[in-house]
Amino acid sequence: MNLCVLGAQWGDEGKGKIVDLLTPRFSIVARYQGGHNAGHTVYVGGQKFVLHLIPSGILHEGVTCIIGNGVVVDPHALFAEIDTIASLGIDITGRLLVSDKAHVILPYHRELDVLAEARRGEQKIGTTSRGIGPAYEDKIGRRGVRVGDLADQSNDGALASAVRENVAARNRLVADSHLNWENVLADLRESWPRLQPLVSDTSLYLHRSMRAGQRVLFEGAQGTLLDIDHGTYPYVTSSNSTAGGAATGLGVGPKAIGRVLGVAKAYTTRVGGGPLPTELHGDMGERLRESGQEYGASTGRPRRCGWFDAVAVRYAVRVNGLDALAITKLDVLDGLPEVEVCTAYRCGTEILSEMPSDIVQLAACEPVYETMPGWTEPTRGITKFADLPDGAQRYIRRLEEASGIPAAIVSTGSDRDHTIITDQTVLK
Ligand code: GDP
Ligand code: IMO
Ligand code: MG
Repeated sequence: MNLCVLGAQWGDEGKGKIVDLLTPRFSIVARYQGGHNAGHTVYVGGQKFVLHLIPSGILHEGVTCIIGNGVVVDPHALFAEIDTIASLGIDITGRLLVSDKAHVILPYHRELDVLAEARRGEQKIGTTSRGIGPAYEDKIGRRGVRVGDLADQSNDGALASAVRENVAARNRLVADSHLNWENVLADLRESWPRLQPLVSDTSLYLHRSMRAGQRVLFEGAQGTLLDIDHGTYPYVTSSNSTAGGAATGLGVGPKAIGRVLGVAKAYTTRVGGGPLPTELHGDMGERLRESGQEYGASTGRPRRCGWFDAVAVRYAVRVNGLDALAITKLDVLDGLPEVEVCTAYRCGTEILSEMPSDIVQLAACEPVYETMPGWTEPTRGITKFADLPDGAQRYIRRLEEASGIPAAIVSTGSDRDHTIITDQTVLK
């Protein structure tokens, strides 16, 4: 069966580590949305790799990695990433494919991103400033440039006129903008010779590979609560990070997805603006941030930290059809006398067991906590569930119960080997 691995919270759940861990079971790893706003840190034998656009399966020789049509690609960011991982000994030759239908992040998308944030003032989303939102705006507005369009090297073809019109529209809309469309076109044309060998019809490639019996791991970026439709709108990213995005973002049928694994931290983090019901502002928030090293892999921003939010994870179970969880960073909670699990929200006089759609209501919600005893013995690096301290075992069992699905994986450290696999069936 194929498997979709995605974030069940607000991103940075440890998807990169889990995808890297599971990759040997698959022939292909395919990213379906987002762009270089993602930052996936993977440690192998103490060596650190940070992936943004390239799927986290790339560290395994012989595995083909796909950047699907649902992804937005900044060619310069892609080249920089290829160079960085090459310098660490990873060769992508012949095993990285980019969809000809993926949309291109143009140089001015980044500027528009920054300008839009400045206009929002206090209400800013806290984007990664990578131009992700404006690139998707052009895609949905039916004026975007796709990777395959870059093949047109002429001065007066479809690419040139699309760039000319887009730049003219931007100059009209944005005060003091005098961008030269010819420079934008020249930049795109320069990217093509390096991009061309990677570009193909990746939907067809997947179709043929799956028909030949190859297994595919679909890799999500961001997280369920950052999904453009199902997240805490408007404090979201601009793509479908939920499981449905795998079908539209790669050109495969929904039945090809197979099983769905949601990655969730043993607590909660969020980077950027928007409601986070279990956020801890005092010493405990700081304690989680420091022991979890909760600083963004893409932007270095401190992540907001809080207790595990079972309401949010139950919601992720529903909108993604999750079969199981991979619970990461259990070791970060080592040594705490008590741990809390949010099982419901209190909103005025009402107790809510389901995630509200309205973020004004969500922002007014107070978590209803269940307090559990912690554990003093370290869990870091433990590979068998039975070897976990009793308190940690009870905590995981409670998270499973409160989320409504089993934890097939429990991660006890950042390295590949720091992992407990409790249920092989979900991963078969
Ligand atoms: P992603 O965006 O979902 O791939 O997650 P990030 O890579 O942005 O953030 C997760 C961070 O936690 C990375 O630095 C990982 O190396 C680290 N990590 C993953 N699993 C564990 C774990 O079980 N324990 C600890 N201590 N760190 C972990
Ligand atoms: P990974 O894949 C955490 C957040 C940004 C901001 C919002 C919109 O590493 O989990 P954008 O630049 O996408 O328009 O920003 O989404 N965000 C992430 N937060 N992890 C990510 O990716 C994120 N990608 C975007 O902080 O709040
Ligand atoms: Mg990340």
